[in-house]
Amino acid sequence: MARILVTGGVGFIGYHVTRALLARGDQVLIVDDFSDAPYPRLEKRRNEADLRDEFPQTRVVEACVTDRAAIAPLVLECDRVLHLAGLAGVRPSFSDPARYARVNVEGTAVVQELARQAGIERFVFASSSSVYGNSTPLPAREDAPATVPESPYAASKRSAELVAASLCRAAPRMRCSALRFFTVYGPRQRPEMAIAHFVRSTLAGAAIPVFGDGSMRRDFTHVDDIVRGILAVLDLEGPAGFRPYNLGSGAPIDLRALVAAIGVAAGRAPHVENAPLQVGDVNATFADITRAREELGWEPRVKLADGLASVVAWVRSRA
Ligand SMILES: NC(=O)c1ccc[n+]([C@@H]2O[C@H](COP(=O)([O-])OP(=O)(O)OC[C@H]3O[C@@H](n4cnc5c(N)ncnc54)[C@H](O)[C@@H]3O)[C@@H](O)[C@H]2O)c1
Repeated sequence: MARILVTGGVGFIGYHVTRALLARGDQVLIVDDFSDAPYPRLEKRRNEADLRDEFPQTRVVEACVTDRAAIAPLVLECDRVLHLAGLAGVRPSFSDPARYARVNVEGTAVVQELARQAGIERFVFASSSSVYGNSTPLPAREDAPATVPESPYAASKRSAELVAASLCRAAPRMRCSALRFFTVYGPRQRPEMAIAHFVRSTLAGAAIPVFGDGSMRRDFTHVDDIVRGILAVLDLEGPAGFRPYNLGSGAPIDLRALVAAIGVAAGRAPHVENAPLQVGDVNATFADITRAREELGWEPRVKLADGLASVVAWVRSRA
């Protein structure tokens, strides 16, 4: 049984991974600030309540990851750290880049440094496919330079990685894994993200905005696959040091095909509305998942049609 500090544990991915950890008998201590960004905290309160209903032993501390004094004693209670807390979202990062830098870069540095001081040897944190920008050859490999971010969000995730990699030099026993998630979807997805938004709109008979000419491609990854990947990394035995992993489906599709697939899953024809391309959006994301396959024994399993059906069922259950 491991004792795991999960930051951001009442968010979308945090909820699912916490549930999986508690179900297999690990102890989990969640820290989350229940911030109202980039979506209402009500969703996070719901996730917390659902976790407590299912696992009454759920422990949640309300604190900000940049608050060293609040985080330090929590780290001391644990032997692994899964740092998912962060401000997500490409588009909103243009409105408050300083806040994104503070939470995503400073927050990661604070939590990792406290983990280092506590002698914790497994530090796993959420990075993003956005680090690859538009200039990385596709499918994107982890050893690409990733030096041209397209948004403050992408820059904050890449900066957090670089700080984490450098801090590993002072933590010779720490295994530090940066997980580059590729557009994660599933039940409880952040409400402003495309699939959750598009499914809600389709079921309500409202228009779906398709940005640009709809040729933008995304590598959508179901949250169940992401959870299996996170667990594999948390359990990984191997050399110390910094190592990034792509967790993606490796099978990108364009927006028009996504909308059509949502129509099939929802059993309704979507009503499409053209919208201008958004600043910061990359043309395509496409993961090379060779490293995760070889080192983690990980493979995405959820087919897009089944994954979309899980979102449709979730949205209907909340209607
Ligand atoms: N969902 C995706 O497609 C995706 C893709 C790439 C990377 N990521 C990253 O994965 C992580 C989880 O993403 P998610 O989709 O579950 O987002 P989310 O917003 O649902 O979860 C993040 C959680 O972190 C918490 N948080 C934010 N700022 C905090 C702070 N200062 N102190 C403590 N807690 C704070 C939030 O309240 C939230 O519960 C994020 O770091 C995100 O950037 C997500």
